[in-house]
Amino acid sequence: MGIEIVPLGESLGAEIRGVDLRKRPDKAVTSEIRAAWLEHLVLLFRGALLTDRNLIDFTLGFGDLEFPPSKLLNLAEGPRNGPKVPPEINVISNVKENGEPIGQLGASEAAWHTDSAFVEVPPAASILHALEVPPSGGNTSFLNMIAAYETLPDDLRRRIEGKRLKHDQTYTSAGDRRAGYDIVEDVREAPGPWHPAVRTHPETGRKALYLGRRMNGYVEDLSLEENEELLDAIWAHVLQPKFVWEHKWAVGDVLMWDNRCVMHRREAFDDSRRRVMHRTQLAGDRPV
Ligand code: SIN
Repeated sequence: MGIEIVPLGESLGAEIRGVDLRKRPDKAVTSEIRAAWLEHLVLLFRGALLTDRNLIDFTLGFGDLEFPPSKLLNLAEGPRNGPKVPPEINVISNVKENGEPIGQLGASEAAWHTDSAFVEVPPAASILHALEVPPSGGNTSFLNMIAAYETLPDDLRRRIEGKRLKHDQTYTSAGDRRAGYDIVEDVREAPGPWHPAVRTHPETGRKALYLGRRMNGYVEDLSLEENEELLDAIWAHVLQPKFVWEHKWAVGDVLMWDNRCVMHRREAFDDSRRRVMHRTQLAGDRPV
């Protein structure tokens, strides 16, 4: 019996039913899931609390694991995993133990972003598993950057197509400056890679806007004024509710998103409530 695919959002997102992620899906089911992922861009699996091993095995079905780039770059943006959590896993949490955070991003908003667009070869997928969730807040929203690109007004498309964008490494998506990084005085000088502002998906060939995040974005060759004006206009187009699907988490949920053509945002939540998520990532290609 095949899997059941239930579309969720108007623009992206689908729930996959009939798969138990506590056992690694076989090749046929994995390729059905991959096809659904490439079509719907974000997949939701409900119901089972997974071990880190389950999560890693599921991720390996789709390719190579990416170690969290923040660890590879030695960006001191949060705690290293304790002995109980394998190094392939990134803990996203506001919880503190013995006064020390057990994970990254705290409880404040994580603004719209693409995971690790600030490295040369960002991950293809992020797979996030909910172990503990607060009763309200902390929802995660996803935005279809293919649809945003395809509906871009002609004048904006002409101005951004073929340009490269600088992706600043200085700040996390929660707006915290990473240890060892200076305040960015001039976005043209910010540390970080250049990526095409419109990238072509390596598997589907579809084009998507690739903005990374708004803060300190810089389009090559523009004056600072032109840069702010162009990026503001593009972001105003992108942030339309019709491109967005929002997920309210339940314990056991797993979300797998295509980091090459989807941005996401995590809303703030009450820091006195616990939220613990474990994340794996799938290795990607250099954006072209
Ligand atoms: C992230 O922004 O990568 C984390 C998303 C979340 O905590 O829901």
